[in-house]
Amino acid sequence: MSGRLAGRKALVTGGARGIGAAVARRLADDGADVAINYRSSGDAADALAAEFTADGRHMVAIKADVGDPDQIRRLADEAAEALGGLDILVSNAGVEYFGSLADVTPADFDRVFAINTRAQFFAVQNAARYMGEGGRIVLTSSQSAHKAVFHHALYASSKAAVECMALNLSPELGRRGITINAIAPGGTVTDMSADAASRYVHPDIDTDFNTLIRTSSSLGRMAQPSEIAAVVSFLVSDDASFITGRTIQADGGWF
Ligand SMILES: NC(=O)c1ccc[n+]([C@@H]2O[C@H](COP(=O)([O-])OP(=O)(O)OC[C@H]3O[C@@H](n4cnc5c(N)ncnc54)[C@H](OP(=O)(O)O)[C@@H]3O)[C@@H](O)[C@H]2O)c1
Repeated sequence: MSGRLAGRKALVTGGARGIGAAVARRLADDGADVAINYRSSGDAADALAAEFTADGRHMVAIKADVGDPDQIRRLADEAAEALGGLDILVSNAGVEYFGSLADVTPADFDRVFAINTRAQFFAVQNAARYMGEGGRIVLTSSQSAHKAVFHHALYASSKAAVECMALNLSPELGRRGITINAIAPGGTVTDMSADAASRYVHPDIDTDFNTLIRTSSSLGRMAQPSEIAAVVSFLVSDDASFITGRTIQADGGWF
């Protein structure tokens, strides 16, 4: 396989649909062998893996709930076993959440942080066990970590923590020649944004989400998942060898 990631072995969490599937496709197109993780989208994961396998590429699907640290450990072990090692982790799996200050319960808080935050830390811990010099890790934050949105404090803070995680893990991983960065996408066309779009509009403002995007971002539109995948592809490539601990805001220029 040729391409800038030829010979690299990548694990993508939440890789069966949305941004994760676009990342899996892009890394495979760039020549990497890819393990895609899924929790509930087994059919989509199998179909994606079968599509690439039929095309002579190496892609496997592995079921695991990243909300459970034991399953993350098994996921990393199975991915490394299936691919013969791990060079790249793209920690993408995540859940959206909107709720008022009064409505958020401790169970809501723990669930959102377990998937969006804790899982990303333990995905790094477990994947890094297999990585050597040249290892690449990309975590997934959100543009939400940089913009105040009504009833969005829980999700936004679960993502903001990930940016701090990348910054503070970078010296430890850097000594081993591994880079770790985060990506903070803006609104991207996926199931998640389709479900949540209207919640981004403040209830006192008489507008719709498309108008909000048109008037609140420099490019005036949402991203396609492939545009986010392209940034991830750069961050895990040799071209990004001197970038670590940073968060790349791929958000179309929100203001
Ligand atoms: N779309 C946006 O506008 C946007 C903007 C900023 C940041 N993001 C972030 O980008 C990432 C991907 O978002 P998306 O829009 O592609 O979301 P999506 O369409 O809702 O897909 C979510 C993905 O996360 C996986 N997932 C959720 N909980 C999981 C768990 N406990 N264990 C394993 N996998 C789990 C899902 O897997 P299954 O389907 O197998 O359950 C699915 O692959 C998320 O971290 C999200 O917060 C998205």
